[in-house]
Amino acid sequence: LFQAGIAGIGSAVPERVMTNADWAKLVDTSDEWIRTRTGIEERRICDANTAASDLAFLAAQRALQDARLAPEEIELIVVATTTPDYPVFPSVAALLQNRLGCAQAGGFDLSAACSGFGYSFYTAAQFIENGEFQKVLLVCVDTLSKNMDHTDRNVCVLFGDGASALVLTRAEAGYGHLASIIGLRGSGANELIIKSGGSRAPLTEANFSSKDRFIYMDGKAVFKFAVQIMGEATEQAIHKAGFTSKDIDFFVPHQANTRIIDAAMKRLDFAPEKVIVNIQKYGNTSSASIPLALDEAYRAGKIKKGALIATCGFGAGLSWTANVLRW
Ligand code: ACO
Repeated sequence: LFQAGIAGIGSAVPERVMTNADWAKLVDTSDEWIRTRTGIEERRICDANTAASDLAFLAAQRALQDARLAPEEIELIVVATTTPDYPVFPSVAALLQNRLGCAQAGGFDLSAACSGFGYSFYTAAQFIENGEFQKVLLVCVDTLSKNMDHTDRNVCVLFGDGASALVLTRAEAGYGHLASIIGLRGSGANELIIKSGGSRAPLTEANFSSKDRFIYMDGKAVFKFAVQIMGEATEQAIHKAGFTSKDIDFFVPHQANTRIIDAAMKRLDFAPEKVIVNIQKYGNTSSASIPLALDEAYRAGKIKKGALIATCGFGAGLSWTANVLRW
């Protein structure tokens, strides 16, 4: 019926830069290990007073400015996050609605971990494609630095904090959201998990000091899964959109590890100049990673109107998603 196009984009990251050398002062690691195993050189980390909605607010303001829309015009706010300001309620969407002044908007948070961008883009686009809404604000934000054990070198060096927002409006035929796929392999739920703080093991004084409130990751298992799924899922989404990988101008993968990205790039036969990578500056920002990379490439003049883009995310769940869009 209708097409959901990207009318504006904006991002925000914390000011504080933490380099590999900074981590090497705190845990038994090295710049060389992190760089060669992951591709990460530095990441941004929130200070104690900054929460997800603070980054989300800045990113959303920038996206609204880019789209030249007033907050009052937004009809729906969708926030992809697994690190909301408050663990149960209210939603980040509610906090944003008030702070931005989106007087007409309803909204909700969506939890899909590092697959957050693809899941929320697919979801938000539906409301435009079925004619229900015309102006939707989509915000992807995560502050995983707050949920990791800063003494666990297996995890702490990988993640960074960030937010990125998109304004979706009705687009001309052939532009914007073209196809999506989503998937889950819940049998791998224990491979990437925060065990306490939810209804299974609420935080009590007794278990507060346990490491269970931090990210646990079986790195090797997630790596194996990611290498397989990134190629497969991207191929499926491109096929669903009616294209082949040769038609794709840019591939924007979830920024978790350059070795995972390289494997997908080879399988899909994408030339390196088609693949957008900024992991070296931000690490893994979870749901924000793909739109943060899209935003940078767009502002650098690399992505221009009409560019055909494939994205692919994977993460806890285990979950995955791939999307094809025309800018
Ligand atoms: N510095 C130095 N050594 C380290 C570090 C570090 N920061 N981290 C782990 N090591 C050590 C381990 O202790 C282990 O030592 P051991 O062999 O003596 O036990 C060794 O390095 C592990 O080496 P490898 O297994 O060869 O490391 P690998 O090549 O698997 O790389 C990594 C590890 C980077 C974690 C990789 O497995 C990975 O990227 N996995 C995927 C992670 C991912 O993408 N997660 C995010 C998903 S998204 C979401 O939803 C949150």
